[in-house]
Amino acid sequence: MDSLQEKNYHFGQIILHWLIAVLVFYQYVSSNGFSDDRLNKCKNSELASVECDFFASHYQVGLFIFGLMILRIGMRLYFGAPVLSNKVPSIIKVLGKISHLALYLLVIAMPITGLLGWYVNSGIVLSIHNGLSNVLLSLILIHICAVGFHEGVLGSSLIQRMVAFNTKLKK
Ligand code: HEM
Ligand code: HEM
Repeated sequence: MDSLQEKNYHFGQIILHWLIAVLVFYQYVSSNGFSDDRLNKCKNSELASVECDFFASHYQVGLFIFGLMILRIGMRLYFGAPVLSNKVPSIIKVLGKISHLALYLLVIAMPITGLLGWYVNSGIVLSIHNGLSNVLLSLILIHICAVGFHEGVLGSSLIQRMVAFNTKLKK
């Protein structure tokens, strides 16, 4: 008898993937108006004050992303990831694994460097935060192109794995 194998991620992993993607996008938008002047005022006053609203949301959403990432890493370790189709060449599988690992590390490093830089008041750590945000953005763009490549060129229908719940395929 053929064994059936999960074709998709666990629904919790799927929800977390898209929720975190939207929140990370928000972080880029919310940090657009940051200037040293405005940030310095918030360092010297209460974060809860109205003039720091622009930063408070970046801070809170960043913290929320951190919590969600802990949950997501836990789920990834527990549930794993579905096996990729045989249409995908081994080298692409390896590159995919490396880029996913890098995405996990970068998304978790963002709130850590943000909080550390803010509370230790370290310009160096905050420039690392800014630098990593550029690396993360590039990787997200590559990630989106890779999904297009899988769909259009390899025909491996990857998007299905991250949108549909409980589809099974024959091994
Ligand atoms: C902030 C933006 C994003 C981040 C940080 C991100 C991160 C990730 C990570 C870490 C994985 C690997 C999941 C795992 O193995 O546990 C993944 C998978 C995936 N992502 Fe994203 N993603 C983002 C945006 C997007 C967007 C916009 C798309 C749509 C084009 C997308 C489509 C996918 C798909 C289809 C998979 C499944 C890949 C597979 O099955 O191997 N992601 N994403
Ligand atoms: C996933 C979570 C986060 C993402 C994606 C993110 C992203 C960003 C981005 C894109 C910038 C602007 C970079 C630039 O102008 O080149 C920024 C700046 C900043 N972020 Fe975050 N951030 C996150 C979490 C946090 C957290 C939790 C804090 C907590 C305090 C924080 C504090 C800051 C500060 C202080 C700056 C300004 C740094 C400076 O220019 O001196 N971030 N962040």
